[in-house]
Amino acid sequence: MRAVEFQEYGGPEVLRIVEADVPEPRAGQVTIDTAYVGVNFADLKARTEGYRVRSLPFRPGLEVSGRVRAVGAGVEGLRAGQDVVALVDSGAYAEVVLAEAATVFPLPEGLDPRTAATLPTVLPTAHALLHEVGRLRAGESVLVHGAAGGVGTATGQLARAAGAGAVYGVVSSPGKADHALKHGYDEVFLADTFAEDVRRATGGRGVDLVLDPVGGDTLRRGLEALAAFGRLVSFGNASGAEPWQAGQPELYPYGRSVAGFSILGLAQSAPEALRSLTERAFRKATDGTVSLPVTAEFPLTEAAEAHRLMGGRTSTGKLLLRARD
Ligand SMILES: NC(=O)c1ccc[n+]([C@@H]2O[C@H](COP(=O)([O-])OP(=O)(O)OC[C@H]3O[C@@H](n4cnc5c(N)ncnc54)[C@H](OP(=O)(O)O)[C@@H]3O)[C@@H](O)[C@H]2O)c1
Repeated sequence: MRAVEFQEYGGPEVLRIVEADVPEPRAGQVTIDTAYVGVNFADLKARTEGYRVRSLPFRPGLEVSGRVRAVGAGVEGLRAGQDVVALVDSGAYAEVVLAEAATVFPLPEGLDPRTAATLPTVLPTAHALLHEVGRLRAGESVLVHGAAGGVGTATGQLARAAGAGAVYGVVSSPGKADHALKHGYDEVFLADTFAEDVRRATGGRGVDLVLDPVGGDTLRRGLEALAAFGRLVSFGNASGAEPWQAGQPELYPYGRSVAGFSILGLAQSAPEALRSLTERAFRKATDGTVSLPVTAEFPLTEAAEAHRLMGGRTSTGKLLLRARD
């Protein structure tokens, strides 16, 4: 089978197509004949700086749709030939993917494999950021960084559907604002000026919830943009800056709080919680609350092109890789 791997860190050109053995499932695992693979920013972070890479060569890829090929011992509720989607901790850039059965889900009702491949990472993440971790209440305002990207596109729609009082987005360039405005956002700010824009838009009050995948200075300015009792959820470090550490001036006088979320961390530490979160989140796709537009699709063998597009910071919505020619 064909797979895409890298042997060294670097630009998209380090992604290589390799011939690999078809994996066999061990106890508690299944293999999946891949239909589509979703591209995530974490795949680029793995390639450039070794994010969650345990050893080289490394095969990226966190989410896949396809058909169960083989079922390992002790797996219940999944059978060969069944259409499924899965979250995996790596290795989805391949024609056959090995997955832990705990993070394999029947193809959500009414969705095709192409649409379903956009969901396993982004939608549960967006749901957790707003609800399980961010504890958004109807009428509250929320500010979402990376508003036009995969997670951002889902989050805008979920926040609107949850009755948020105002849904503000942040993007790096004006060209991305239109996309966000079509996916639940009331107003979209540019990254350079978002803190001032929030003050203006909220009459100086600030927002109730900030969702931050950037870190560094953006996280610090996000804290300042919070209203009294506001919450910030950190869920990434796209800036590559040193992690922020809690200090008195930012939190105590306003009763602000900071929380964190990692879907891969949750899959490892609390698979049952991840499973019920994913089922709740998928219902938001099957009932039509959320749709994730696929804005570009590439053959698996052209994964480097998908990385170029996302790395160039012009992509919106979801990018997919197609496993079959
Ligand atoms: N914690 C979790 O469980 C979890 C799960 C999924 C995703 N994430 C994080 O959520 C974010 C979005 O992921 P995605 O896969 O949906 O990707 P995406 O949003 O489709 O594309 C990458 C995003 O990163 C932003 N970006 C790129 N380089 C940046 C930089 N140097 N500084 C600041 N922002 C930068 C871009 O926004 P602009 O160009 O508009 O700034 C763009 O929205 C990523 O940071 C990812 O690591 C976290």
